[in-house]
Amino acid sequence: MVQQNRITARTKLLGIIGHPINHSLSPVFQNAALNALNLDYVYLAFDIPTEKLMEAVQTLRMWGLRGINVTVPHKERIIQWLDKLDDTASLLRAVNVVLVKDEELVGYNTDEIGFAKSLEFNQVHLDGKNIALLGAGGAARAVVSALVRGGAHKVLVFNRSPERSLRFQQWAKSSLALEIETDSWKNFIDGHSPFLGQLDILINTTSLGLCQEKMKVPWEKIENCELVIDVVYNREETSLVKEARKREKKAFDGKMMLLFQGAESFRLFTGFEAPIEVMENALNEAVRYSW
Ligand SMILES: NC(=O)c1ccc[n+]([C@@H]2O[C@H](COP(=O)([O-])OP(=O)(O)OC[C@H]3O[C@@H](n4cnc5c(N)ncnc54)[C@H](OP(=O)(O)O)[C@@H]3O)[C@@H](O)[C@H]2O)c1
Repeated sequence: MVQQNRITARTKLLGIIGHPINHSLSPVFQNAALNALNLDYVYLAFDIPTEKLMEAVQTLRMWGLRGINVTVPHKERIIQWLDKLDDTASLLRAVNVVLVKDEELVGYNTDEIGFAKSLEFNQVHLDGKNIALLGAGGAARAVVSALVRGGAHKVLVFNRSPERSLRFQQWAKSSLALEIETDSWKNFIDGHSPFLGQLDILINTTSLGLCQEKMKVPWEKIENCELVIDVVYNREETSLVKEARKREKKAFDGKMMLLFQGAESFRLFTGFEAPIEVMENALNEAVRYSW
């Protein structure tokens, strides 16, 4: 029988890689879930800068890891060193879980289901909604795929770099058979896009806010927007969520998405259904006491 927190020579290793990684809450709730189910694993965070990623991936087999989560900025870049991708990771061209299976490295993506479940948890209905999506990276692909499956009426993407916007459009066309409209970042922050007046939901998938940077939002132009979702999360609420609530809009950050993607990751790592309540309590406690 495994005792809580007792690490032995047989304990198996799980982890998360990213850069920076200090803000990650995954170790807190993954270890709580492993302990609750009495599973002989430990989950640690590893700060891996981009120039060390290849080396880190190539040593995963050697260290006998069962699997890892992958976070910003490695989700796309890591793909070139993996042996296989599951259908969702292949569709989204982004990986947030790698399993070591019979010496093969297999990539998965649990962000889309994490986001979809966070919408369900917050009772968000997408039918007929006009949605502005900020950002066009890996998280944006997971989010837009969930929005389309959920029946959103129209999604318009605003991204800072036009190159990434274009790549996003091309990806949506080839992978989701979807014509996505885009507009410039400047037209968003200056409030010049006519779409803003018809907006129901604003979703941030840029990495702005990760370090509590303030985003310039043309609040006076999006008065009809009823809901603001930030996939970014901090220990406290993100400044976008705080600003939205000040204006009496419903708003939530990426913590529930994190939790639900983590629950799916846990199932992939261990083969057991995740004890969601245990994970949620651990997450809330970590946030409350700033662990
Ligand atoms: N809650 C969760 O479970 C969860 C899951 C996945 C991701 N996330 C969060 O989502 C964020 C994005 O992740 P990702 O994987 O999509 O990263 P990514 O692929 O690197 O994309 C980053 C996006 O942010 C934009 N961006 C970065 N800095 C910006 C700035 N100063 N102003 C405007 N736009 C800026 C980039 O635009 P350019 O093209 O102009 O560079 C790009 O569109 C991260 O903060 C991550 O933590 C949360």
